[in-house]
Amino acid sequence: MPETQSLNIAIIGHRFMGRAHSNGWLQAPRFFELNARPVLKVACGRDEDATQAFAENWGWQETESDWQKVVARDDIDIIDIATPTHLHHDMALAAAANGKHIFCEKPFCLGTTQAESMLEAADKAGIVHYLNHNYRRCPAIRLAKKLIDEGKLGRLYHWRGTYQQDWLADPQTPMRWQLRHEFAGGGPHIDLGSHSVDLARYLMGEIATVSCLKANFVNQRPDPEGSGTGEVNVDDASLMNVEFDSGAVGSFECTRYASGRKNHNQFEINGSEGSIIFDLEKMNELQFFSRSGPSTEQGFRTILATDPEHDYVGNWWPPGHIIGYEHAFVHAAADFINAVSGDGTISPDFTDGLRCMQVLDAASRSAENGRREPVSRD
Ligand SMILES: NC(=O)c1ccc[n+]([C@@H]2O[C@H](COP(=O)([O-])OP(=O)(O)OC[C@H]3O[C@@H](n4cnc5c(N)ncnc54)[C@H](O)[C@@H]3O)[C@@H](O)[C@H]2O)c1
Repeated sequence: MPETQSLNIAIIGHRFMGRAHSNGWLQAPRFFELNARPVLKVACGRDEDATQAFAENWGWQETESDWQKVVARDDIDIIDIATPTHLHHDMALAAAANGKHIFCEKPFCLGTTQAESMLEAADKAGIVHYLNHNYRRCPAIRLAKKLIDEGKLGRLYHWRGTYQQDWLADPQTPMRWQLRHEFAGGGPHIDLGSHSVDLARYLMGEIATVSCLKANFVNQRPDPEGSGTGEVNVDDASLMNVEFDSGAVGSFECTRYASGRKNHNQFEINGSEGSIIFDLEKMNELQFFSRSGPSTEQGFRTILATDPEHDYVGNWWPPGHIIGYEHAFVHAAADFINAVSGDGTISPDFTDGLRCMQVLDAASRSAENGRREPVSRD
């Protein structure tokens, strides 16, 4: 039997996404048929003790504190970028220059200019590049895509998306990197909005124009070390209205101030033949309304997307044995490994990252000048 190819991974960042990705790399070969074997080779982080503890917990073979050394190593095939957003650009450029395949967290980067250079570097290097908008790999969202592609919703009229959290509703919640523009590139507009725009593009098509209103509610927050306050310089909420190339229209609301909403990534799509509703907090379900059949028997029904025929779930448990947040990361890891060892394509990729950034940047211009802005796709 031929020996299975090994792909050595180096992960940069070891906290929230570092854990989610490590679990993805570990579980992917246990539940999916992979054409290559992911090897958890190097974990990189600035805090050496924390990185060592992380490596021991997840089975990373080595640790390193300097990411520039990691991306230059000859024995690394894949760079997994799980660091704050301002670092994605430089890390991706260096990884591409060294011929490494890239698995990159979202938001893609700080803006369109960086996005263009990241895509150009990846294309020039001929590497496989993936941007982790993980929600595309929820089985219920795959079902939504299938229903749309099969024409079950008919002509699409409306996208109505909300991505609401509440972890900043308390003005005493301390400062963190997500509240500084230079590290995060913006507030929920780019953090949550990038996920929503990615899903809208995936399901509805490209966005042609956008108008946007942003809000700031709390401008000073306690320093996490306990002395004084720090200035918040990102948006606290963003409302977008968009027009799709198709003529459909859409609305987006992104906020971290929606008390009671924890990770409420929800959307509704209305078409000439039917509608769908998805809510991440009930991620195994898709609400589907169809105009077919007698109107007296029509109504929204709940599809539990856990049958073996639904994408990905046949590899997990029997029908009704639901999956959770971390599973979409496992699906992404499996697809990425098979892309690297196969035909080299996976989506969303850096082109999707650029398109998404163009929408969000056009929206930011609109929020500043008060006008509807075209989305440039040059
Ligand atoms: N896909 C999703 O749904 C999702 C969810 C949360 C966060 N994210 C994204 O993932 C990225 C990371 O976010 P997080 O929540 O894991 O952040 P985090 O603050 O929990 O972790 C950031 C990690 O980066 C490391 N780091 C920072 N600077 C570094 C440097 N110079 N060299 C090496 N390591 C460095 C830190 O040590 C830490 O381990 C962000 O871009 C964020 O927007 C995506």
